[in-house]
Amino acid sequence: MSTTAEVRRLTTPQDLFQAAAEEFIRAANDAVAQRKRFAVALSGGSTPRSLYTLLAANASPSLPWDRMFFFFGDERHVPPDHPESNYRMANEALFSKTPIPAANIFRVAGENPDASAAAGEYEKNIRDFFSAPAGEFPRFDLILLGLGPDGHTASLFPETQALQEKSRLVAANWVEKFKTSRITFTLPLLNAAHRLSFLVSGTDKAPALHEVLEGKAPGEEYPAKLVQPGAGQLIWFVDRAAASELSAAA
Ligand code: 6PG
Repeated sequence: MSTTAEVRRLTTPQDLFQAAAEEFIRAANDAVAQRKRFAVALSGGSTPRSLYTLLAANASPSLPWDRMFFFFGDERHVPPDHPESNYRMANEALFSKTPIPAANIFRVAGENPDASAAAGEYEKNIRDFFSAPAGEFPRFDLILLGLGPDGHTASLFPETQALQEKSRLVAANWVEKFKTSRITFTLPLLNAAHRLSFLVSGTDKAPALHEVLEGKAPGEEYPAKLVQPGAGQLIWFVDRAAASELSAAA
């Protein structure tokens, strides 16, 4: 595991979301103070919805909302109004309840029938935002990530092609078990971030979390292991249920 990884063990899911919300706000204020803007990539699935709801409920007017820019670490290959859309979930839980300017939200065009074209378009949007030329990996101020029971993160699933991507920022990744493509940040883009926060809650994640943090399996089988930021800070926010298979020392 990366030497920069920190595991914050919280008791309940509510404690986890509270701690993650505090880190989110700290990261936002630090980034705006140092770089005049906060560029964050949200994760999808079900776990982060509670974090987004908490951020919206405590949405302080003092937060620099107009300097905060929202991206997605991955997206399903569906339209933005589809029940499985990560954008739809974040819009319901956060964007629709906070004064974030619409121009500050960069969603993936999941409605594009050509997933590779959607990935290429998203990559261009990211490069344009950061003024990052080809060959350079932009540094997000914060990337939120989840952990699947199979050890995947973002849409980097075990033994899938996107795990091998070394130069692109965003890839269309065929996921055989779902018989669908996903659009996902690549490992070089994830690992360039200033900060990454994993949010892992629930007993069903305990075996994967143990393997990722303490096990010997290769990263191709547990892709979350491959999130190893060079100069970035990596924090795992885990609740007691998810941490139930970790050794006491971790
Ligand atoms: C997605 C996510 C994915 C998620 C994990 C955990 O698009 O589904 O980005 O990587 O974080 O699958 O999902 P849950 O939080 O729903 O368990």
